Amino acid sequence: MPDPSGVPGPAPASVREAFDLSGRVAVITGGGGLLGRKHAEAVAELGALAILVDVDLARAETAAEAVNGLYPGRAVARGCDITRPEAVEALRDDLLAAHGRVDILINNAANNPKVEGNPKAGGGQWSRLEAFPLDVWNQDIAVGLTGAFLCARVFGPVMAAAGRGVILNVASDLGLIAPDQRLYRKAGLAEDEQPVKPVTYSVVKAGLIGLTRYLATYWAERGVRANAVAPGGVHAGQDPDFLGRLAHLIPLARMAHQDEYKATVAYLVSDASSYMTGAVLTVDGGRTCW
Ligand SMILES: NC(=O)c1ccc[n+]([C@@H]2O[C@H](COP(=O)([O-])OP(=O)(O)OC[C@H]3O[C@@H](n4cnc5c(N)ncnc54)[C@H](O)[C@@H]3O)[C@@H](O)[C@H]2O)c1
Repeated sequence: MPDPSGVPGPAPASVREAFDLSGRVAVITGGGGLLGRKHAEAVAELGALAILVDVDLARAETAAEAVNGLYPGRAVARGCDITRPEAVEALRDDLLAAHGRVDILINNAANNPKVEGNPKAGGGQWSRLEAFPLDVWNQDIAVGLTGAFLCARVFGPVMAAAGRGVILNVASDLGLIAPDQRLYRKAGLAEDEQPVKPVTYSVVKAGLIGLTRYLATYWAERGVRANAVAPGGVHAGQDPDFLGRLAHLIPLARMAHQDEYKATVAYLVSDASSYMTGAVLTVDGGRTCW
């Protein structure tokens, strides 16, 4: 609980100590994905136990194994569909029984519709607003936004009861700016067949920023902080034409390395950011400043 006098509590003794996560338990949704594993590596390196939560348990297990290879005993995998309230509540009960605490929640899971090739909707054209399937809209919102809300609803009170905790919502540079649809163009396709970044991506990421501010004020007096990170795109073997076009939109002229957000996550979930709440930390190679 913060001191109601308005006087700051004791500052961490050192910067190194401020980043220390020894003994803390961190829930990472979408832990089986590309960045979920990296968030897990970040918190595990600093001493926390990373709980990699994913609807795809096999993916979470593979990721946890990789994290344990680097930091033995610091990662466990849990299967959970975060769109189902009873599944998230069961996860909380399971984690409290096994570990006794949850200190950190990283809302990272996403449906991540790729611009190309949604088999359900058939080809590239599905992503266009005029044709955007309602079931894809519902599913993207369910994972990215409702799932984050449900995890906050379930794990936030655990943190508030303990008088401390941190929620980190993984937004995107596209939570702050519109997608530049010229990036996704394919030669030889008619205008109404050109793929675009799905509308749900912008809506989910902007929504997460709103959720961040709401949560930050809601539990501030109970010692729970909430922030968002707005990362730019991560290099993962994308098409060279796409990379070239994207580079022109980014002052640093490249995508992020896969490990390049780990220190940011470490900062946001540790006491290093103890006077920060309700903020959106943009880490995008400068894209949104242009
Ligand atoms: N990769 C990038 O370039 C990039 C850039 C900016 C922001 N982001 C954001 O970072 C986060 C992680 O991105 P990523 O590239 O690692 O994505 P990813 O697709 O590799 O991982 C997402 C994970 O979420 C899981 N998931 C989906 N539905 C779920 C559900 N109902 N319950 C539990 N888990 C579920 C998936 O199984 C998957 O493992 C996302 O929020 C994404 O939007 C990514």
